[in-house]
Amino acid sequence: MEQLKGLILSGGKGTRLRPITHTSAKQLVPVANKPVLFYGIEAMAAAGVSEIGIIIAPETGEEIREVTGDGERFGVKLSYIVQDEPRGLAHAVLTAETFLGTSPFVMYLGDNLLQGGISDLVSAFREHEPDALILLTPVLDPENYGVAELDGAPGGAPPGSVGRVVRLVEKPPQPTTDLALVGVYMFTSQIHDAARAIEPSGRGELEITDAIQHLVDGGMRVEPHIVRGWWKDTGRLDDMLEANRLILDNLVERVDGELRDSRVDGRVVIEAGALLERAIVRGPAIIGKGAQLTDCYIGPYTAVGEGCRIEGSEVEHSILLEGSSVCDLQGRMESSLLGRNVTIRRGDGQPRAYRFMVGDNSDISIL
Ligand code: G1P
Repeated sequence: MEQLKGLILSGGKGTRLRPITHTSAKQLVPVANKPVLFYGIEAMAAAGVSEIGIIIAPETGEEIREVTGDGERFGVKLSYIVQDEPRGLAHAVLTAETFLGTSPFVMYLGDNLLQGGISDLVSAFREHEPDALILLTPVLDPENYGVAELDGAPGGAPPGSVGRVVRLVEKPPQPTTDLALVGVYMFTSQIHDAARAIEPSGRGELEITDAIQHLVDGGMRVEPHIVRGWWKDTGRLDDMLEANRLILDNLVERVDGELRDSRVDGRVVIEAGALLERAIVRGPAIIGKGAQLTDCYIGPYTAVGEGCRIEGSEVEHSILLEGSSVCDLQGRMESSLLGRNVTIRRGDGQPRAYRFMVGDNSDISIL
C-alpha cells in the first residue's frame, strides 16, 4: 500500500464549549495541560504517519497554526488547509483533495481522544487493504453520533474486525443500534468520489457517514473495528472533564517546581517554575509552569495551567487555562473549566454580594 497520509479536522465552531470557544479553537483547549489536537498528531506520528494536513477554519485557523507550528516538534510535516465554511466532514475531505492526491489516509477529528493510539488500526488497514476502515464503540446516547448497524455474523471477517457494515446513519432520532462512529477513519482515495456523490444532510452538511454508506452501497469493503480502550469526543464540558480524568490517570509523577511547607500525594506533576507554599496537591493532578499555589488544596483530577494563581481556596476536578486565578474562595471549586486569565476571588467590601463580569454564554452555578 502507498504511504498513508494524515488528515486532522480542526475547524468547526465549538458551540458546545462556549464561551471558551468565543476566543479560542476547541481543539486547543488543554487536556492535562496539552491541547487536545496534539494527542491526535502524536498518535499519527507514533503510527508512522508523517505527512499530515490540518483542516482549519478562517476564524480560528491562525491560532491553531501559531500554536501547532510546522510539525517539527512532533517529528512530522504539517500543512494547513483552510475550509471556508463548516460544510461537513465529507466536504473537509474534498477540500483536502489536492493535499491527499490518490494516497490512502487516516482522518482524525481534532477534538477526539483515543486511548492506545492508532498504530494497530493502521497496521490492520495496511494488511487487509479494505476500501475504508471505521471505528465503533457502544454509547449510551447514540442519537448524538453517527451509528452503524452490523451484520451480526463475524464469520470470515479479518482479525480485529467485527463483521459487515449494513447501514450507517448520522444522528438518527430513534437509533436501532448503540454503536457510534468514533472520529477516526481510514480511507482509500475512493472516498473522494463518494463525497462528491452525496447530498447535504438535514443540517446542511456533507456527512462522512453518508459518504461511507455510499461506499457500502457501491459494494466496497468497509471494515468495522470496535474500540478496545476508551474514546472521548471532547465537544462538551463534561466530556472535557472526563478526558482530563482519563489522561491524568496515566500521569508519571514528576516534581520540577519548588515545594515550601507543601505536600504532594499520588500521581502529581509539578512543572518547573511552579511554587507551592503551604499547599496540598492530591493527584492525579498537573500544575503548570510558573503556577503559584499558596495556602490551598488541589484535589484529584485537576489541571492547573501555566502561570495560574490559587490562594486560600480548594480546587478539585477542574481545568484552569493559563493565567487564571482563584483567590480566597474560602470554599471549594469543583467540576469547573476556567478560560484564560479568568479571575475568581472573594473580596472584603460591603455589601456582601456576588459580583460578576461574565462573557456571553457563560455558565455559573452557586451551590
Ligand atoms: C461527527 C460525525 C459523527 C461521529 C462524531 C464522532 O459528529 O458526524 O458521525 O460519530 O463526529 O465524534 P459531530 O461532532 O460533527 O457532531
